[in-house]
This record gives sequence, structure tokens and C-alpha cells, in this order.
Amino acid sequence: MIFFAKLHPLIVHFPVALLTSGVVFEIYGSLKKDEVVETAGRFNTRLGFGCIFPVLIVGFLGMLSLDNTEKFKDFLSGHMRFVFLTTGVFIIAMVFSRYVRNPFGRAVYFLALIAGLVCVLNTGYYGGELVHRFGVSTTQ
Ligand code: HEM
Repeated sequence: MIFFAKLHPLIVHFPVALLTSGVVFEIYGSLKKDEVVETAGRFNTRLGFGCIFPVLIVGFLGMLSLDNTEKFKDFLSGHMRFVFLTTGVFIIAMVFSRYVRNPFGRAVYFLALIAGLVCVLNTGYYGGELVHRFGVSTTQ
């Protein structure tokens, strides 16, 4: 449904912004040994992680309404590749943060946060190109 294709760009900013600020705050807080900043970062990372799932569902439903996808298929597949990587990497981060509470778990958690940040920014890049270069779901 075109409704979902138009809704998707409206709600994607929540996971993108929350995960980006969350990861930056967590890393900054950890390096500066500032627990308040790190805790604020953890809150944003978790809220952003929760926002991924409605955005995923709406993205899939929106994609079903697209036609003539040939000219932007590389960007659509790039977008989806990074969507799956972002989701997978943040799931790994959450699992390690919850169940592996030792220095190894913390190291994996921070590496996953950095990888997740790179992935979510790439997701946004490809999605942005779909909308602003190819005009996907901007007409009507
Ligand atoms: C972590 C989940 C996701 C994030 C963070 C995300 C992010 C974005 C962003 C930032 C845009 C550009 C919005 C704009 O510039 O106004 C976009 C557009 C788009 N995304 Fe996603 N996306 C996600 C999941 C998905 C999924 C699962 C699909 C489809 C399988 C999808 C398909 C699309 C499409 C088709 C567009 C073009 C606009 C539209 O038709 O809705 N996205 N996305």
C-alpha cells in the first residue's frame, strides 16, 4: 500500500537518530568514564533498537506497493542489505550486553555498536537515495 511507502520515510528518522546518538554517547561516555553520558547512550540505543521493528514492517509493506523498481533496484537491494546487517548487528549487541557480562562480552558489545553505526548510516544513505535521487514514493 502506498500509505506504508509514505509512512516509512516519516518514521525512519527515529531509529537512525536514536541509534546514532546512542552509540556516540555510549562510546564517548565509556572513554571519558562518564557514567551519566554512557547511561543516556544506552537508553537511546535500546529505544532505537526497539524502533527498528515497526520501521522494518512498514518498510516491507511499503515496498510491496512499488512498481518500476528496475531503475533503482541496486539502491533498493543496497538498502535492504544494510537493513538486515543493521538489525543483525544490533541483535548481537543486545544479546551480548544482556547475557555475556564479562570483559569479552563488553568488547564484543562495543565492536557491534561501531559496526551497527556504520550499517545504520549506510541504510540511511541508500534509503535517502531512493527518495531524493529516484523520487520513490514522492509523487501523488
Ligand atoms: C532498520 C530499518 C530501516 C531503516 C533505518 C530505513 C531507513 C530508510 C531511510 C532513511 C529512508 C529515506 C527516507 C527519506 O529520505 O525521507 C528509507 C526509504 C525507503 N526504505 Fe527503508 N529503512 C529500513 C527498513 C526498510 C525495509 C525493511 C524496507 C523494504 C523491504 C525498506 C524500504 C524502503 C523504501 C522502498 C524506501 C523509499 C521510500 C518508500 O517508498 O518508503 N526500508 N528507509
